[in-house]
Amino acid sequence: MISSLIRNVGALPLKNSFGRHVSRTFATGGFPAPRLFDYATVTSNLTVSDAIESVEAAFKALSKGKVDVPMPMHIGIEESDVAGPGDCHIKGGYVSGTPTFTVKLACVSFYNNLKKNLPPGSGIFIVVNAVTGAPLGVFQENRFMTDLRTGAAGAVAMKYCTNPDQDVVGFIGCGAIAKNMARAAATVRPIKGVAFALEGAEQFAKEMSNELGVPFEVATSAQDLCGKSDIIFTQTPGGSTVLEKDWLNPKGVTIIASGSDQPTKCEIPPDVLAASKYISDLTKQTRKVGELRSALEAGVMTEDDVYAELGEVVNGDKVGREGNEIIVVDLTGTGAQDAAIGQVAWDKLSQL
Ligand SMILES: NC(=O)c1ccc[n+]([C@@H]2O[C@H](COP(=O)([O-])OP(=O)(O)OC[C@H]3O[C@@H](n4cnc5c(N)ncnc54)[C@H](O)[C@@H]3O)[C@@H](O)[C@H]2O)c1
Repeated sequence: MISSLIRNVGALPLKNSFGRHVSRTFATGGFPAPRLFDYATVTSNLTVSDAIESVEAAFKALSKGKVDVPMPMHIGIEESDVAGPGDCHIKGGYVSGTPTFTVKLACVSFYNNLKKNLPPGSGIFIVVNAVTGAPLGVFQENRFMTDLRTGAAGAVAMKYCTNPDQDVVGFIGCGAIAKNMARAAATVRPIKGVAFALEGAEQFAKEMSNELGVPFEVATSAQDLCGKSDIIFTQTPGGSTVLEKDWLNPKGVTIIASGSDQPTKCEIPPDVLAASKYISDLTKQTRKVGELRSALEAGVMTEDDVYAELGEVVNGDKVGREGNEIIVVDLTGTGAQDAAIGQVAWDKLSQL
């Protein structure tokens, strides 16, 4: 009865503010339902190399002010008889001139899931038609697409902030992000990998060596890794700093740090940051949740010491490597990357 009423209302003619008759199809929806892509479909059809080109373009657009990246939204789920504990983070962005925009919802720290043999985190990307505003696709990715866009940013940083002869690449922290960084690094040039982590370095080195067909060794310590590496990717949970200035290769090194994405985290000591050519993914973000935050708090840097945002190096406004310097690229993860991987996912998976 109610649905037939709604159908009838939908059929009624309606006048807009100019007195013209308009269809009232909105009452019945008007748009097709968004397509749903499940986790297996997403993970078996997208790779980090799919994301690199569009993430590079997104960084370019970001540095020209052509990306709308709102501040992330956070919903805290208090633990009770019927809920939580847990956190929900909502991020998104629109890269000007692209046909879609993206909103992503990441649920983390639902630790009671573990008692039910479920993971504590899950997530979806919603990709929306930028002409009509209608959602096109919902991607059940449970963090997979975030990890891909993070790896893609690592590839962009390596491409623009290292020299072609820098091929020994160290990975401090050998978890999920490290795998995407290693896959991404191998798309830039053939690498020789070095791994160090509190846990999982041996397994990571074996798996990456097999998958990428490049040599990997396990370092005995972070100091050992730093002494051997031209490029160092750090992706630990950011509970404490993971290297020291005296350990770094005097011929120059590029550190690509991605572990810090919260105001409680840091991986790189302030004296290393102060001595470096410091490049942020997005300074308004790194000053709050990236490595820059701890250098500002220690009083060893000001925002005037930021050499560039990564997009400025990508679009040629600022030069990348210029000699035996220490470069730190601070990657906190931007909505521009989320929009870029959302577009790639829709382009690729909507063809299935
Ligand atoms: N910047 C971004 O865009 C972005 C995106 C996603 C995740 N992250 C962050 O990246 C970090 C890593 O995430 P993950 O999913 O790979 O974590 P993970 O738990 O899968 O792996 C962490 C690795 O770091 C190692 N580790 C921890 N402390 C260490 C230390 N002091 N020295 C050496 N190794 C250490 C662990 O043994 C493990 O190998 C987290 O802080 C996460 O929030 C950042």
